[in-house]
Amino acid sequence: MTVIYPGSFDPITNGHIDIIERCSKKFNRVIVSVLNNSSKETLFTVEERVDMIEKSLEGYDNIEVDSFSGLLIDYAKEKEAKLIVRGLRAVSDFEYEMQMALINKSLYQDLETFFFIASSKYSFLSSSVVKEVSSHGGDVKDLVPDIVEKALNEKFIKDFY
Ligand code: COA
Repeated sequence: MTVIYPGSFDPITNGHIDIIERCSKKFNRVIVSVLNNSSKETLFTVEERVDMIEKSLEGYDNIEVDSFSGLLIDYAKEKEAKLIVRGLRAVSDFEYEMQMALINKSLYQDLETFFFIASSKYSFLSSSVVKEVSSHGGDVKDLVPDIVEKALNEKFIKDFY
């Protein structure tokens, strides 16, 4: 079965990697897809985000990395995927995720949303937290893949010299 794991991934964190790795063990084909949303300001471009995800997930032959714009349901139809995967870190994620899952299902009856419970060690993690810590010179080594740590250091280095 083909599943889509969509998100902003600005940048990808170890919390996302945890979900993707678990997903790749349960489904034949996993498409990790970066939302290309020109109205949302991001630290990294879509190309940078896709590149970092690809490099973080080298070696998995059932994981593909892509980007999409517009409605997720249209992208799912294009990819012939009938399952969306999302992670739930805490009860606070539930309301938003339920709303999205219901909207998507109301627009595309065949589409289901499957939730993985995020590992407790990553339940506090978000891309914003990582950017905040890194922008102030904090160590994010245990929170993101090496390639992302390096990219964050490069983005923020000018602030320290
Ligand atoms: N580990 C760590 N962080 C996680 C996480 C996990 N397992 N799961 C979510 N997050 C964090 C992300 O880092 C992000 O943090 P931030 O807010 O600090 O940047 C936040 O949770 C939510 O981000 P994300 O999972 O990327 O979702 P999103 O809300 O940015 O985007 C889409 C969700 C892309 C699925 C949704 O916006 C979408 O489908 N858009 C297309 C348009 C559409 O079809 N909309 C629905 C119908 S109106």
